[in-house]
Amino acid sequence: MQEIGRAAAELFHDTDLIDVSIMMVITMDDHIAPIAAKLSVVAEMDGRIAGVAMGEMHDDNAYLRKRDVDPVLQQRGAGAALVNAFANGATWLDASAIFLSTFRIPPSRAPFYREQGFRDIASSDYLPWMQAIEREPAMLLDIEKRVFLMPGV
Ligand SMILES: CC(C)(COP(=O)(O)OP(=O)(O)OC[C@H]1O[C@@H](n2cnc3c(N)ncnc32)[C@H](O)[C@@H]1OP(=O)(O)O)[C@@H](O)C(=O)NCCC(=O)NCCS
Repeated sequence: MQEIGRAAAELFHDTDLIDVSIMMVITMDDHIAPIAAKLSVVAEMDGRIAGVAMGEMHDDNAYLRKRDVDPVLQQRGAGAALVNAFANGATWLDASAIFLSTFRIPPSRAPFYREQGFRDIASSDYLPWMQAIEREPAMLLDIEKRVFLMPGV
């Protein structure tokens, strides 16, 4: 799972979205809480882990914090399957709503989720926990380029 995270992060090289050189790699410990909370899913392909999605609850809101697919296994549906599986799992945990955040522009980011039925949330409507999450990476990236989304029209 960590190897996939590292490999997927490499895709941000040569973009102006995030400074990969100071980006934190998700540690084994970071995986433990989402697994224990049943908010971690993997996609398997050809008998190996192809991708990982993990999140956390904020009150009764489920937040899909991270999803990464092995770059050599992308564009085969694993990303969409991970988002679906996370959303289904969160529903079973009685989450009242599901959220994720991503970059607004490159096609594999916000447009990818919009095609899956997510819609942008206006920053003026962000809940306090969303504002806190957006402040976290402020030294790594321009948060104006980020957006929260939730399912719906
Ligand atoms: C974002 C990410 C998780 C998507 O994973 P993925 O496995 O490529 O996602 P999918 O295969 O479900 O969909 C990707 C595209 O492939 C297309 N696709 C899916 N199955 C396909 C198939 N069998 N043949 C051809 N294309 C296919 C999808 O329609 C989609 O097209 P779109 O980009 O025009 O919407 C992946 O690019 C990634 O790990 N990126 C780096 C980390 C990252 O950005 N994480 C999100 C943090 S903001």
